Amino acid sequence: MLNFDYCAPTRILFGKGEENIVGTRIQPLAKKILLHYGGGSIKKTGLYDRIITSLKSSGIEIVELGGVLPNPRLSLVHTGISLCRQEQVDLILAVGGGSVIDSAKAIAMGVYYDGDIWDVFCSSKPVARALPVATVLTIPASGSESSGDTVITNEKKQLKFCYNSPHIQPVLSIMNPELFFTLPDNQVSYGAADMMSHVFERYFTNTIHTDLTDGLCEATLRTLMRNAPRALANKKDYVAWSELGFAGTIAHNGLLGMGRSQDWACHRMEHELSAIYDVAHGAGLAVLTPAWMRYVYKENVPMFVQFAINVMGVDGSYRDPAAITEEGITRLCAFFARLELPSTLKELGIDEEHLEEMAKKSTGASDGNERPLGGLKKLYWQDVLAIYRMIAE
Ligand code: NZQ
Ligand code: ZN
Repeated sequence: MLNFDYCAPTRILFGKGEENIVGTRIQPLAKKILLHYGGGSIKKTGLYDRIITSLKSSGIEIVELGGVLPNPRLSLVHTGISLCRQEQVDLILAVGGGSVIDSAKAIAMGVYYDGDIWDVFCSSKPVARALPVATVLTIPASGSESSGDTVITNEKKQLKFCYNSPHIQPVLSIMNPELFFTLPDNQVSYGAADMMSHVFERYFTNTIHTDLTDGLCEATLRTLMRNAPRALANKKDYVAWSELGFAGTIAHNGLLGMGRSQDWACHRMEHELSAIYDVAHGAGLAVLTPAWMRYVYKENVPMFVQFAINVMGVDGSYRDPAAITEEGITRLCAFFARLELPSTLKELGIDEEHLEEMAKKSTGASDGNERPLGGLKKLYWQDVLAIYRMIAE
């Protein structure tokens, strides 16, 4: 196990009706807030009205900015920064999924940043402060409700970059699984693939003596795989949504990665797909992950055998570790197919045209400063291109 520094400061308020007292929760923290949301689902479901009622009854002044798109755009972040400065808000309340929360986090940093906030996404240099961010989560997927990450798309440059800072870790997040009942099927599946990937990125490691986090990762994966099909079969299955919501937070609040080197190659390869083709993050991950596994497993066969047996239920009596590994990956593909997730770039509307460009961008080879991806196996742009080609069609 490696040395680590773990701090999980987000207060999670879990359960039925929590959103109806959001005003009471926010009131000790802020007098005037920016209410930030997406393309309108919260208005259709009635959540918006309940939030407004609760905030007003607690005497909180509200400034609004809706319209966040999936793969949230830098231009709206700029609008939000100007609005927060002009209105002098003291907290941002993000009501929605990862896109809304990430947009809120970028605005929160930008308010105090002297210059274009995109600079910090490019340089990764630390920000000194940010407005506090609170969330009401409407989809279990990104884990952004308790992460210190924000992922923003610069639509003009076709770049999607992630930035991490402890200053943007939400101060509180409300998670009522009933709010997930209205999700369309495809978003349920994308969310499941994303949450599983957050575990994979931490689980597949060359660090040894990680018994506790191995076990936590495996339990989280089994929980996600058991409950995603249940939620799809019955959208009002509160128990299934509860498990998914909690597992999604655990998958990405940092705990599962403590003391182990992490990977993140699939996420970096996926961000290139979203940046140019605006694909849903979870859909891209579902396509990439099995190919990545097949490309890298020889770096650490025991880790993949452990995954196949402990998570995918493969019979451990096989004599051939490569066969056990392949059976584990085949079962993962079958699980993704059951969730009706795509398995090729073609299904995502991606052809050969930009594959090399995306591969070079993913490692930085395009700007002459290559930083290979991954922890388990270092991937150079030629490796990334080979993986993209494996799943072309
Ligand atoms: O915009 P509205 O109308 O609200 O509709 C949304 C959106 O179209 C809809 N939706 C959300 N909750 C709903 C609902 N529809 C009906 N009922 C509900 N209860 O779902 C669509 C997708 O929303 P989005 O926020 O984009 O989904 P998700 O939570 O999967 O977030 C994806 C973004 O998170 C980033 C991804 O890169 C992507 O941009 N990530 C952020 C991370 C982080 N900050 O820690 C980590 C992740 O790895 C991920 O990269
Ligand atoms: Zn993700």
